[in-house]
Amino acid sequence: MSSHKPVRIAVFPVAGLGTRFLPATKAVPKEMLTILDKPVIQYAVDEARNAGIEHFVFVTGRNKAVIEDHFDLAYELQDTLEKRGKTAALETLSRYQPEAGSTSFTRQQAPLGLGHAVWCAREIVGNEPFALLLPDMVMKDNPGCMAEMVNLYNEKGGNIIATEEVAWEETHKYGVVEKEEHDGPGFRITGMVEKPAPGTAPSNLFINGRYILQPEIFEILEDQEPGAGNEIQLTDAMLKLSKKQDFFGHVFTGETYDCGSKEGFIKANIAFALDDSEIADEVRREIQTLT
Ligand code: G1P
Repeated sequence: MSSHKPVRIAVFPVAGLGTRFLPATKAVPKEMLTILDKPVIQYAVDEARNAGIEHFVFVTGRNKAVIEDHFDLAYELQDTLEKRGKTAALETLSRYQPEAGSTSFTRQQAPLGLGHAVWCAREIVGNEPFALLLPDMVMKDNPGCMAEMVNLYNEKGGNIIATEEVAWEETHKYGVVEKEEHDGPGFRITGMVEKPAPGTAPSNLFINGRYILQPEIFEILEDQEPGAGNEIQLTDAMLKLSKKQDFFGHVFTGETYDCGSKEGFIKANIAFALDDSEIADEVRREIQTLT
């Protein structure tokens, strides 16, 4: 048993406008677009659940109420399915049904940046370490990136940031970590920078959207000035916290799809379709005819 306070709560920032997917996201939140048969947000929630998370906190915004409906019990639908004896559909619903009281929703109110979105969850999270998952980044692995991070956290404590290697030319698109000179798993993070100018990144390990953070991050976020893109950046606040607390890096080696971009979203759909034995052969044949 680990001596570190367990990670029980996960935060999902889902307030983004999804402008890259207009007009699809005019009335439907980008997190509710589907990859195969599940909305994007469900993948992050499943990953958190696989990591032992018990409470799911969503930081939403206007036009996002349907996310709350998605995680509620669909009583009328369930009743109709029961009357019609649709057992398989009922099983699917119950497999993804969060327990009553295990979800919380708050609103970001204004799009001031990721750091601000995380800060909006402070009252719900309280004085506990928490997982943070950016749902745009959909990961395909078992048991998943967050489960690997929780294992590392149980061993080392502190704060954990998941990273992945990226081409050096791409580093300016992300947050990037600086690491100490050894390659072992769970390396110590010595610095980090949000969207480094081309040619200035301290490494080619980008922050992939999965974090385990200590609650002291909230005090720092409270006074955090806007940074890159004139937004309140989580990376800037983490850099400050790293002067006082340990930050360890995890290198995730499974597949990650950036579903905030059209290419990533389509790639994710293809990858999950090819993993589904019922449709994989037909999808593969169809792709071959197209290429
Ligand atoms: C955010 C983070 C960044 C991280 C990225 C991963 O950036 O600020 O550090 O690398 O998510 O997707 P955004 O994509 O919101 O610009």
